Amino acid sequence: MAAKEAGHSFLARLGKTKLRPGGAEATNWLIEHAHITADTKVLEVACNMGTTSIMLAKKYGCSIKALDQSKSALEKAKVNIKNNGVDNLIELVHGSATKLPFEDESFDVVINEAMLTMLPTPTKAKALAEYFRVLRPGGVLLTHDVCLYVDNDEQRQKVINDMHDAINVPAQPLTVDEWKNLLKDNGFDPVIKQGAMTLMSPEGMIKDEGLDRALEIVHNGLKPENRAQFEHMANFFFDNAKTLGYVACCSKKPA
Ligand SMILES: C[S@@+](CC[C@H](N)C(=O)[O-])C[C@H]1O[C@@H](n2cnc3c(N)ncnc32)[C@H](O)[C@@H]1O
Repeated sequence: MAAKEAGHSFLARLGKTKLRPGGAEATNWLIEHAHITADTKVLEVACNMGTTSIMLAKKYGCSIKALDQSKSALEKAKVNIKNNGVDNLIELVHGSATKLPFEDESFDVVINEAMLTMLPTPTKAKALAEYFRVLRPGGVLLTHDVCLYVDNDEQRQKVINDMHDAINVPAQPLTVDEWKNLLKDNGFDPVIKQGAMTLMSPEGMIKDEGLDRALEIVHNGLKPENRAQFEHMANFFFDNAKTLGYVACCSKKPA
């Protein structure tokens, strides 16, 4: 049987450009805290189609290495980067977050949105150790992930199982305290913002993608070949509006 399409690849195929739990609200908060200038050396891990890297390159004129493990996402990123005229600033790299092909202390900012959630907890720590290694002392790590608001293990397991079924990825979201402790255990000093999941909410879609594109995404999602997966995902996030949220973390590597 063919593998089921991962939720983020499915939404990208429908036309969504921001594939993260807190959308532009969380990303903008993170970026504001990083104090990026044209001289800042940025690494984006899990760049997918390049949305955040393109925004940073256009806004600040900084140089960026943009890495993802998906060759097809990088192909799309290559086209988007060229179309936005920032191919002189962004270098695409095929690789894994857990084995970064970069020198120690070679970046001022590492940004990694909506990826750590997808990894088992020991692998999350492995990626964080790599981010710590490639950041210069005093550099900042910007992460943006799904957080859980659950009262007990049974509820937690149910949400996680339902999430696997909805997005076809064995994601392992954590509570806000667990995210904070994971970052601290890996040497970082995090400042945190949390909020509601906006990935598939009508307000979030309009805010992130604009009205026309949001309508196009819904139109594509309701086509017969997409409808079952689109409704499954939308219903899952609607039903879990109180048990899931986003957490954005701006974490300094001590100077
Ligand atoms: C949910 S998408 C988020 C994309 C983008 N950061 C955003 O916020 O729109 C997750 C991305 O993480 C990438 N990814 C997953 N595991 C990875 C790993 N170990 N190393 C590098 N990229 C990874 C996937 O290929 C995918 O492009």
